[in-house]
Amino acid sequence: MSEMIREVRVTTFKRKGIHSHIRGLGLDKDGKPKPIGDGLVGQLEAREAAGIIVQMIKEGKMAGRGVLFVGPSGTGKTAIAIAIARELGEDTPFVAMDASEIYSSEIKKTEVLMQALRKAIGVRIREFRLVYEGYVKEIKYRVPKSPYTPYMMVPREATITLATKDDQMTLNVGQEIASQLREIGIRKGDVIYIDAQTGAVHLVGRAEVEGAKTYDVDVVKKIEIPKGPVKKEKEIVRTFTLYDLDLSLALRKASFFSIFGFVSEREIDPELRRQVDESVKKMIEEGKAELIPGVLFIDDVHMLDIESFSFLSRAMESEFAPIIIMATNRGITKIRGTDVESPHGIPLDLLDRLLIIPTRPYTADEIRQILRIRMLEEEIELKEEALEELVKIGTETSLRHAVQLLEPSRIIAERKGRKEVTKEDVREALRLFMDVKQSVAHVKKYEESFLR
Ligand SMILES: Nc1ncnc2c1ncn2[C@@H]1O[C@H](COP(=O)(O)OP(=O)(O)OP(=O)(O)O)[C@@H](O)[C@H]1O
Ligand SMILES: [Mg+2]
Repeated sequence: MSEMIREVRVTTFKRKGIHSHIRGLGLDKDGKPKPIGDGLVGQLEAREAAGIIVQMIKEGKMAGRGVLFVGPSGTGKTAIAIAIARELGEDTPFVAMDASEIYSSEIKKTEVLMQALRKAIGVRIREFRLVYEGYVKEIKYRVPKSPYTPYMMVPREATITLATKDDQMTLNVGQEIASQLREIGIRKGDVIYIDAQTGAVHLVGRAEVEGAKTYDVDVVKKIEIPKGPVKKEKEIVRTFTLYDLDLSLALRKASFFSIFGFVSEREIDPELRRQVDESVKKMIEEGKAELIPGVLFIDDVHMLDIESFSFLSRAMESEFAPIIIMATNRGITKIRGTDVESPHGIPLDLLDRLLIIPTRPYTADEIRQILRIRMLEEEIELKEEALEELVKIGTETSLRHAVQLLEPSRIIAERKGRKEVTKEDVREALRLFMDVKQSVAHVKKYEESFLR
């Protein structure tokens, strides 16, 4: 089941901006947290605990369980969850969502969750495919002038010579493959393979061969010239998510017209998912595929309602389940959709299966260090007094608010023709932008005056 499927990156980050400085958990070999490491500062116990979770995930010991980060706003719950994703590596799917995303108007709540769950499960598929592989010795495009788009250089055909240490082959390829070659920017010396059945072109790396240009900074990795014949059976390993497989099957089954219906409905038929599950199971039994359970991160989890919680509980028990990591800053609160109060607004039966990791407010020193890291990340220069002002805001309102004021402060300084941000710039930014507590109080004031 691979024809329609294209390779997809399985890691997705929402709200990447304010956490872009985080590269991992900053632990040493023994799993102990460094005071500062991988962009993270302090919060030592939570980081050590998160490191243990990473190990449990890698060893497959987290099945049927979940993690809950609990702590006040701006204490790094989302930051540490993202660090977990970085530690798990590229191949492990990590899907981040905000609980409030389920209240979209177009799709059912449980469907939103189902899609997120399936995006968080990877399937590594191994197959042998007939390919042409070698380094590019020669490539020529034939580009006709198009009467409709005279500026667009769309190749109609290409002639490409692929070579290995032992063999060489010249292929004439049509428009489909020629335009892929052009799009990827294939040049002499690139090692590529072309799938003989699908025509998909893959760049493997670059070999050092005569006549090939080299650059000082190259993003393509250097590799040896391949050996053996150009045309051969090659074992190819690709990772998809269950969601990718659902979509590709749906598209393959859809007729021309129902494709549009499908897209506008945006709900996937459960029967179709069952078929995907069956064929994945079969591939696993035959040793052609492996399951890679990933992580579904649900932020502000107290926003889920009772229906969604029971759906998640059931999902955690199913055969194909990702690890669920949640975060909340609420204490005892009502479970949405009920009159029942519960810790963190989460039903007790689900709470029973969660490992809880607390996060604690930062000291002024830690806030200062985090802001320094963000200054480097965003390339913003602050006067000492400006930094101190932000540290004060971080301690009094929230760290998140302080982090978010950095860029507006920079712009305010820039408009006054300065590169370096002063205390006044920060104060002005503070006057213009509210933190969440303030903004809630702000609308509440008006709501009350409307009700009267
Ligand atoms: N220990 C840390 N080291 C470095 N940066 C951090 C750390 N903790 C938080 N940050 C950064 O501080 C900002 C606020 O943290 P974050 O959003 O993770 O808090 P939170 O606990 O998820 O808050 P909320 O409950 O409001 O969602 C983010 O930019 C985050 O990347
Ligand atoms: Mg958060």
